[in-house]
Amino acid sequence: MKGIVLAGGLGSRLYPLTHATNKHLLPVYDRPMVYYPIQTLVDAGIREVIVVTGGPHAGHFIHVLKNGKELGLNHLEFAFQEHEGGIAQALGLCQDFADGENIAVILGDNTTDASIGPAVQSFERGAMVFLRQVPDPERFGVPEFDPQDSSRIIGIEEKPAQPKSQYAVTGLYLYDANVFEFIDTLKPSGRGELEITDVNNRYIERGELHWAELGGFWSDAGTFESLFRANAYWAQKTTGRCCEDFSRYYR
Ligand code: DAU
Repeated sequence: MKGIVLAGGLGSRLYPLTHATNKHLLPVYDRPMVYYPIQTLVDAGIREVIVVTGGPHAGHFIHVLKNGKELGLNHLEFAFQEHEGGIAQALGLCQDFADGENIAVILGDNTTDASIGPAVQSFERGAMVFLRQVPDPERFGVPEFDPQDSSRIIGIEEKPAQPKSQYAVTGLYLYDANVFEFIDTLKPSGRGELEITDVNNRYIERGELHWAELGGFWSDAGTFESLFRANAYWAQKTTGRCCEDFSRYYR
């Protein structure tokens, strides 16, 4: 399977940090943010990756990632998203790269230590999303489950004011080649973006959306709070010391 990292957008929720560089190159403890999603793909056995980026600092990526060898990749390429038209628009730029194969897609601001390897190995067709219980589902895509059969998702809403479950759809997805046909038919949402949630709803309509619960740590890092949380987790995991231990540096 090939891997796709979506790292476009302006990162405006992290201004002024993202005036200096692209959001996905900001530090998460001792590594640039984008290393984490690439590592998740590499750990799942994926060696061919495309990174989609955009905005004024797109050129910074090549200095950091080079040809991807240091991260365990055999092939790394880049695509440039000209406008921040949404996650599904960024994904649509990868059709030639995918070349009819199944793809593993991960948002460039998602960090996790969960393994998607078994799901990648067993995936055949349709789509697969990874869910996580969260205290603030209104920040995410939120699944609604069939009251008759709680293993079945009947719809996903993007950032609902009244979430129909406590789950977030995380930014990790597996798709078959039909995904690009669905993207071609999308219309921009109220916020002017082609939404990945609309893509996932197409798979639901066809009865082809599978899901699994993501174990381990998972967080996005697109707001100050979530960026701080991701930093705190990875600092603790990398050093084996608790966050409180770091407080001696600022006491
Ligand atoms: O983190 C999981 C959530 O990510 C999902 O639950 C939501 O369904 C999904 O829409 C997304 O929500 P966000 O509001 O967090 O998306 P955001 O606009 O922050 O974009 C997330 C990443 O997607 C970003 O780090 C880079 C990539 N992206 C985003 C946009 C808007 C692009 O590559 N191009 C874009 O135009």
